[in-house]
Amino acid sequence: MDRSQTRTTVAAVCRSGRTVGITTSLWGAGGFGKTTLASAVCASRRVRRRFRSRIYSFTIGRDVRGRTAVAAKVTEVTRFITGDTKPFEDPDLAGAHLGRLLDKRSRTLLVLDDVWEHEQLAPFLRGGRRCVRLVTTRNPNLLPPGAHRIQVDQMSYAQARAVLTWNLPDLPKALVRNLVLATGRWALLLRLTNSLIAEQCASGAEPAAATEQILHRLRDSGPAAVDDPTATWNLDDPGQRNQAVKASIEAATTLLPPSGPDRFTELGIFAEDESIPIPVVALLWQASGGLTEIQTRTLCRDMERLSLVGLDPANGGTLSLHDVVRDYLRNAFGTAGLARVNGLLIDTIAATLPTAPPLAPDHPSPERAWWQLTTGYLLDHLIDHFLAAGRIPLAEAVAGDIRWVQARLTQRGPTAPWSDLTGIDTARTRTLARGLAQTAHLLSPTEPRHALIGVLHNRLDTHPH
Ligand SMILES: Nc1ncnc2c1ncn2[C@@H]1O[C@H](COP(=O)(O)OP(=O)(O)O)[C@@H](O)[C@H]1O
Ligand SMILES: [Mg+2]
Repeated sequence: MDRSQTRTTVAAVCRSGRTVGITTSLWGAGGFGKTTLASAVCASRRVRRRFRSRIYSFTIGRDVRGRTAVAAKVTEVTRFITGDTKPFEDPDLAGAHLGRLLDKRSRTLLVLDDVWEHEQLAPFLRGGRRCVRLVTTRNPNLLPPGAHRIQVDQMSYAQARAVLTWNLPDLPKALVRNLVLATGRWALLLRLTNSLIAEQCASGAEPAAATEQILHRLRDSGPAAVDDPTATWNLDDPGQRNQAVKASIEAATTLLPPSGPDRFTELGIFAEDESIPIPVVALLWQASGGLTEIQTRTLCRDMERLSLVGLDPANGGTLSLHDVVRDYLRNAFGTAGLARVNGLLIDTIAATLPTAPPLAPDHPSPERAWWQLTTGYLLDHLIDHFLAAGRIPLAEAVAGDIRWVQARLTQRGPTAPWSDLTGIDTARTRTLARGLAQTAHLLSPTEPRHALIGVLHNRLDTHPH
């Protein structure tokens, strides 16, 4: 559904050499269509003509917190765009380095999706004279002075109606109107509601009756008197946003097969803003619900039809979860539930790997050869899953094991094993991270691999554990 803001943003991106920010007026609220708008801008003909193949999109997200993590993100972006792998501990130095490299390149569009804090953005604004930054954020205050701001809030009535009735048979006007009001013209909710009605119609339900049903559901759990047809959500209020999402998701999950709602909730353990490989989901669901990979794929498809998840069939299939939906799932689960399911995932993965002895008798045991994992998602987030399961000693043992460091180094470059260590933040990992950082200048890709590993062994082994 095209929005007027698409044209405004395309014009701003093509005309100005400045930063362009897509924001909401509601602080902290997601699901209004910022990411969708940014993608539409990148896909537009005018933008592609202007920037050619030099359009790069990165999601920052809430989880990139603290100087170390921000520096690692900047390094990752630098590596992706320029191939340069120079590691930095300091986000400002990392940003200045990226800026210098961008200065040497022709016109570039850098999309930074879902920025939460000023500290996450500042390093990306340095240098890069011919680089336009397109930033999406729920926090308009973090945009630099002079940035061109584009507001994306509730949809207009006509847009909302178009999203709500997309691909549906004709519905009574008054019913559509009431449902548009009941969704608060919130893009995320409109899409969920549309899919819910479409899915019921596809199996022969009477369209008006199905629509009536979801309208009641939204109203019953709604913010105002049930008998007030014009009652709408106050989307400024996080409590009401949660309630609105809860009503729609619960309505949608009733259409899943019997154990579907539980399996769906379990998806809340996966990392935010990440594509989750379906084979990894299959491992989890095999352990939690006895599902085969084929059943997992079928269930993922059911969830996609209801717009509960996004599904990309490329690379063996990946799922994506909007953070508003993920937040809902995590709340529904609670900390203990999340820890339990994270533990289940870890144990299931462990069972696929050979056992591994500690490097020396006095070294902590990693238990399994985690470094033999080949799935990017698992290598990137294994340590997070250990921590979420409360398995701190295991996290320490793996992140501090030279075999893991080597695997991460090869996979993502020097900042990855260092970020793994700093994410754990215990006395032991702090020491190891320092040791690794002191070695970082030696970890250039030109260094022969065996020499590098030798250096690392030396560094990590001579540090007191
Ligand atoms: N222009 C649009 N047309 C149709 N659906 C949209 C549009 N914008 C957003 N949506 C729906 O709303 C959901 C949330 O949008 P998204 O862009 O992810 O929001 P945000 O980035 O603001 O959190 C999307 O998954 C999509 O289903
Ligand atoms: Mg977004």
